[in-house]
Amino acid sequence: MHGVIISNLKKYVEEKLGEPAWDTLREKAGLKDKAFIPISMYPDSDLDQLIDAAGEVTGQDRDAILLDFGAWIIPPLMQMYRSFIPEDWDAVTFLMNVEERLHERVVRMKDASAKPPHINVSELSPGVLEVQYRSHRNMSALALGCVHGVAQFYGGSASLMEERNDGGSHRTFVVRISQGAAENRDAI
Ligand code: HEM
Repeated sequence: MHGVIISNLKKYVEEKLGEPAWDTLREKAGLKDKAFIPISMYPDSDLDQLIDAAGEVTGQDRDAILLDFGAWIIPPLMQMYRSFIPEDWDAVTFLMNVEERLHERVVRMKDASAKPPHINVSELSPGVLEVQYRSHRNMSALALGCVHGVAQFYGGSASLMEERNDGGSHRTFVVRISQGAAENRDAI
């Protein structure tokens, strides 16, 4: 797993649970003193163990943590990768392009060891998107959280209309995106 995700998990945990919580989670995860930097790759098991430890500490289940973290991580990712995101995109355009323009062109092509999920998005009717999550990682709740985060980033919201299990860890979500005024876009 890309260090950009785990180093943001550290910031998320510190913001939600206070600074000392990161050390507690690393210790519970068997990763005491391990540092995570945004330009390195780490075993997927590191992230899984940190999420399990966060579940132990907060009493939340894994999917609830991934959903919340997915929404939280979008603004920092937008900030880091802002030069790849056209100014005139809105939430729907962003989601329709995330696979090809970000996961493929920015993540996979630049780092052969990164394996971001395939997020295939199609617009069923205006503002209603079908979002397919395809990954070996069983983190579809993170993907749904990211959808909420993108909608909120552009000043709107997302509501889940339908969810399908497509076998293994593959999932399909149907979401309605209510567009906002995009005032956040100026902030990045
Ligand atoms: C600025 C936008 C985004 C950037 C730069 C970005 C980048 C990344 C990177 C670097 C990873 C780690 C990949 C790896 O280590 O193999 C990742 C993972 C992930 N991304 Fe994105 N992403 C973005 C937006 C999104 C959106 C909008 C979604 C969902 C709709 C999404 C869903 C996920 C999920 C679920 C993972 C976890 C890994 C997995 O399940 O296999 N991302 N992303």
